[in-house]
Amino acid sequence: MNSIIEKRIGIPQLKERIVSAEEAAALIPDGAVVGMSGFTRAGDAKVVPMALVERAKKEQFKIDVYTGASLGPEVDHYLAEAGVIRKRGPYQGERAMRNLINKGDILYVDAHLSHNAELVRQGIIGPIQYAIIEVCAITEDGLLIPTTSVGNAPIFAQYAENIILELNISHPETLIGIHDIYVPGPQGEREPIPLTNANQRIGEKGIRVNPEKIKAIVISEEPDAPSLIVDPDEETQRMANLLLDFFRSEIKAGRLTNQLMPIQSGVGSVANAVLDGFKESEFENLQVYSECLQDAVFNLIDAGKVNFASATSITLTAEAQQKVYGNIEKYIDKICLRPQEISNHPEIVRRLGLISINAALEVDIYGNVNSTHVAGTKMMNGIGGSGDFARNARLTIFVTKSYAKGGAVSSIVPMVSHHDHTEHDVDIIVTEQGIADLRGLAPKERVPLIIENCAHPDFKDQLWDYYHRAVEKYGNVQTPHILEEALSWHVNLLKNNTMKKEVEVK
Ligand code: COA
Repeated sequence: MNSIIEKRIGIPQLKERIVSAEEAAALIPDGAVVGMSGFTRAGDAKVVPMALVERAKKEQFKIDVYTGASLGPEVDHYLAEAGVIRKRGPYQGERAMRNLINKGDILYVDAHLSHNAELVRQGIIGPIQYAIIEVCAITEDGLLIPTTSVGNAPIFAQYAENIILELNISHPETLIGIHDIYVPGPQGEREPIPLTNANQRIGEKGIRVNPEKIKAIVISEEPDAPSLIVDPDEETQRMANLLLDFFRSEIKAGRLTNQLMPIQSGVGSVANAVLDGFKESEFENLQVYSECLQDAVFNLIDAGKVNFASATSITLTAEAQQKVYGNIEKYIDKICLRPQEISNHPEIVRRLGLISINAALEVDIYGNVNSTHVAGTKMMNGIGGSGDFARNARLTIFVTKSYAKGGAVSSIVPMVSHHDHTEHDVDIIVTEQGIADLRGLAPKERVPLIIENCAHPDFKDQLWDYYHRAVEKYGNVQTPHILEEALSWHVNLLKNNTMKKEVEVK
């Protein structure tokens, strides 16, 4: 046996359970509920899902797949296209999977990422017949050491009847020590989660399981699919600059210091541009308490701007993978990966006072946010962790360009066509046009800020026209709307591919 493999399996009896990916895939029965490791393309099961794709060429079967969040192409592209997935949760972000969901071929349970573990505990997700978990080692005392994400792997490992491990030897053994596995007890008997600073470790370095449940170990050398970050364009850079100036004004007002508060940022180019903007700035001693650590976080650690970063996954471009995993020792005492139940836990998000930055598809004139459904019907990706953070953060910020589809779509609309984040959870809206600070404002006070500061000039008159007619027709009520017209912009989009009013709704 390869000496690396020998060294990475600390329990001698488990070495006898090494099998091929095909043999492991054959264990999974038709109709099984399967929990897989993986979060934002990191630390996901890869070779067993591809063996399931091969199996599907010879035999018809379907499984329900639950994960941490989005996975690489092995599951969310190939497994989906092979027709193997009956139901998928709690998040995906891949075009092939999205198309199958919107065709009705895959059922999709789009859920807050901090909620999944509780659903597993209650048996709403489950019984889980198999957990498939990528690990970089199994220690002598029986701990599974995850790789580049933790996600829901601990709860799947705890509740699954059987476990298949993908021992991925392409991940360095030096990853041991970056994970902090704390699993809360049952509700009603639970202690407060003892985390009062993003940089604390409160759990074990790996996932404790009963080794008897490990039915197969498959050796893998497949790297994580690299992240596909788009470099900021002029408009995303402007949004990032607006946010940095907003933080400066908060410091002037005495509400923040130049250490800010721990930052959570969704994956995407604006978030990356904001983080990059910290590099040459006066901000210092920053902390990150987020879901996913992207390239920019490691650049900030290198620049001495971030002193600690906590998340549940590390998702990097190919170039950054080389830099970070080749020098992981350098980062080991500055980063920590936790279960998503902890990285996204409302108790911690509120206690630490996070600044939360996520993206919206559309925002309405009163500050409600739609992050998931195009024209209220078609799934884009899912709510992910945005709801966990938005409701509980100290400062909840949503960013979006003011327009989409080459200008045919306004991202500021009379009424959002799907509510992910209600007006009660949204503090700041940023588009390339400007910023709207909605804190402490009544709905009608928000309208001018959102239209004047954030809407695209092509749609401002149309938005004002809607609002004024709403007040005229239904009175100066708390939240004026013309209900029979509120979603007409989306109807127009579906019928005529534009929200512009010259093309009237027929
Ligand atoms: N109407 C219709 N389509 C719209 C739209 C709108 N108002 N706004 C954006 N889009 C389309 C874009 O055209 C683009 O489509 P394409 O892929 O076919 O080109 C797509 O949505 C993505 O938009 P983009 O502007 O590139 O934004 P993004 O990559 O930053 O993604 C979200 C924005 C909202 C889809 C994404 O951030 C998301 O899924 N968020 C929810 C989950 C989340 O917040 N996760 C992090 C939590 S911690």
